[in-house]
Order: sequence, then structure tokens, then C-alpha cells
Amino acid sequence: MDVTETFMVHGGNVWAYREQWGGDLSGMADFSANINPLGPPDAVRAAMRAALEEVHRYPDPRQERFRRRVAETWGVPSDAVIAGNGAVELIFLLMAVWRPRKILALAPSFTEYEEAARVMGARVRHLALRPENAFVPDGQTVADAIRAGDVDMVALANPNNPTGVLWRSEELDEVLTEAHRSGVRVLLDEAFLDFSPDEHRLSRIGQAAKSEGLFVLRSMTKFYSIPGLRLGYGAAAPELVRCMDRLRPPWSVNGPSLAAGIAALGETAFARTTRTWVAEQRNRMAEEFRRLGFDRTPSRANFLLAWREDFDIRRAWPHLAARGVFVRDCRSFVGLDERFLRVAVRPEQDQKRLFAGLRALCTG
Ligand SMILES: Cc1ncc(COP(=O)(O)O)c(C=O)c1O
Repeated sequence: MDVTETFMVHGGNVWAYREQWGGDLSGMADFSANINPLGPPDAVRAAMRAALEEVHRYPDPRQERFRRRVAETWGVPSDAVIAGNGAVELIFLLMAVWRPRKILALAPSFTEYEEAARVMGARVRHLALRPENAFVPDGQTVADAIRAGDVDMVALANPNNPTGVLWRSEELDEVLTEAHRSGVRVLLDEAFLDFSPDEHRLSRIGQAAKSEGLFVLRSMTKFYSIPGLRLGYGAAAPELVRCMDRLRPPWSVNGPSLAAGIAALGETAFARTTRTWVAEQRNRMAEEFRRLGFDRTPSRANFLLAWREDFDIRRAWPHLAARGVFVRDCRSFVGLDERFLRVAVRPEQDQKRLFAGLRALCTG
């Protein structure tokens, strides 16, 4: 199996899995994409359905109502908010505006930052996160790398993917301060921060709206379980938002997505239930991994990175796939290899299938 195959580069490519292993989608336990299995919330489904009745009209090209709703949620002006057809659209638009020369990327991390930067002609410098430190980022090292003056942009994620590890607030402050002082721009990806009960205290959306050179990225596809619909947003200085908006094709965010996003932002009970459930099930899964002799990251997101010295994902894949269980092969992440797997937090009946498969593999 070749790591460049599409389902190796991103999780959740059930279409490719089905082609390779057969079976029907409804029977799959897909741990490979980090999607909240409790969603979409009923209000989001209803809003989407109602918006489908309006598909004969163009969507609002300026996404005003959605942007205002985001702005209200975070107490920032709506001209500091940009909507995207998934967070990933905004990563590419941001790189097209900033056109970095060389970016600093932590490794392992979400690879689209560097993919998008490379498309724009940038070079990439990696800074390794270490398994012996549980992949916890070290603010001092990142600030030193910024101070060294060799890069003009840095991509950070809080929490990081594939580790789920959060930055310590003071260390993130140190990095942002150093970046500002050195004139290095920062993409701060908060795609999974809504899974944290401290989301409002930890988010830097307010700071991004007021400062030059900081773009905060958010996704709505994971928490609200709408990856097939696509919706994300970002916060930045209004001038940057205007430049990004000018580059994108008109109407890139469709009507049902915007309606779903407005409904989702009112779903506070769903948010509370999700956070409690994810924390409980994540602990349960971490404990199962521990029993099987795997190390795990101290994740605060809806997924875990696990590894064991003698684990080999190439051997595990067909074995798990035969049970309809799909996990994220981590070989396409810089710095990880066949000893690692990433799994989303999923319901207990799916966990049973995953751990039965792993147990058979590790003890058989
Ligand atoms: C860290 C991170 N940021 C951004 C994205 C893109 O999310 P979206 O589905 O909103 O485009 C992903 C998707 O997997 C991700 O893992």
C-alpha cells in the first residue's frame, strides 16, 4: 500500500475504503476522521433542510448573517470575520494573500498548512514535537526559531492534529508576542478548540480581530458533524479579510452551509453534551490503549494519537478493515511512522470492534 494514496493523506475517505475493502458505508466504524458522532444537532438538520428549499437562489455572496452571528458569539466586529467553504478553503486563501517565503511548521501537524504554502512557492521548515514529551509544544523553542529570522510565517494548531495536545496559554502568548515583534505572521488553527470546555478563555479570536499578522482559523465541520456540507470561518484584521475575500470565487459558501452554521452557533446544550461525552469516551479509549501497552497523547480534542514500539499499521490495516474498522494511518504526517495510529472518539459499540481488533493483533 502506498502512503500517497488519498485515503492515507486525509482520514474519512470512506469512498476509497469501500473500493478497496468492499462492505457498505453504514456498517463502517470510521475512526479515521475526527467527526462528532452525536451530530449534526436537530436544529442544524432542520436549518439545512429549510435552506434546500431556497437552492434556486444564489446564496448571500457576503455571508452577512452568518458572519454577524459569529461576530456576536465572539464579541468582534463582523468585518473581522471571514466565512469559508470548510476551514481548508481559508488556509489556501490565506497563503495566496500572505505568499510566505518560508514557513515554520510543527511536526507532526495538519499537513494542509505546508501543502498550501508550497503551492504558493514557499519553503517549509519543520520543528519536531517529541513523543518523549508527549508531543507537547515548547514555547521557548518555537519562539527561538521565530527569533532566528529564517521564516516569515508560522503555522500552529491549538489543539494540534494529530496529537490533540493544547498549548499552555503562557507559552502560546510568548510565541505570539515574539512573532509580532519579529514581523512573522501566524496562522493559528483552532479547528478542534470547541471540544474544550475552556474554549472561550483559550481562543485567540478576539486578539486576531485587533492585530496585524494573526489569523485564527475555525472549522464547523467536526464539532457539528457536517464535513460533507463544508463550513469554516476565520478571524483577522478587516484589511486581511478584505484581501482574502477579493481572491475567492464568488458564492463559494453555499446557502445550506450558512443556514446550518447560524443554527449551530445557537446550540449550547448540544455543545455541553458533546464536551462531557467526548471527555468520558476519550478517557475510556485512552485506558483501553494503556491496557494494550500503547502510549497515548494527553489529548483535549475528539481524537487520540496512540503508539507502541512493535505496532505496525501496515499489518494492522487489513486486519481492522476486515472488521469494518478504519483508523488513521499516520505515515503521511511528518515525524510519524508505522508505529502510530490516530483514532477519533466514537461510541462504545464501535470502540469494542476497534479494541477487539487491536487485541487480536497485539496478543495473537
Ligand atoms: C487541524 C485541522 N484544521 C483544519 C481542517 C479543515 O477542516 P474543514 O473540514 O473545515 O475544511 C482540518 C480537517 O481535518 C483539520 O484537521
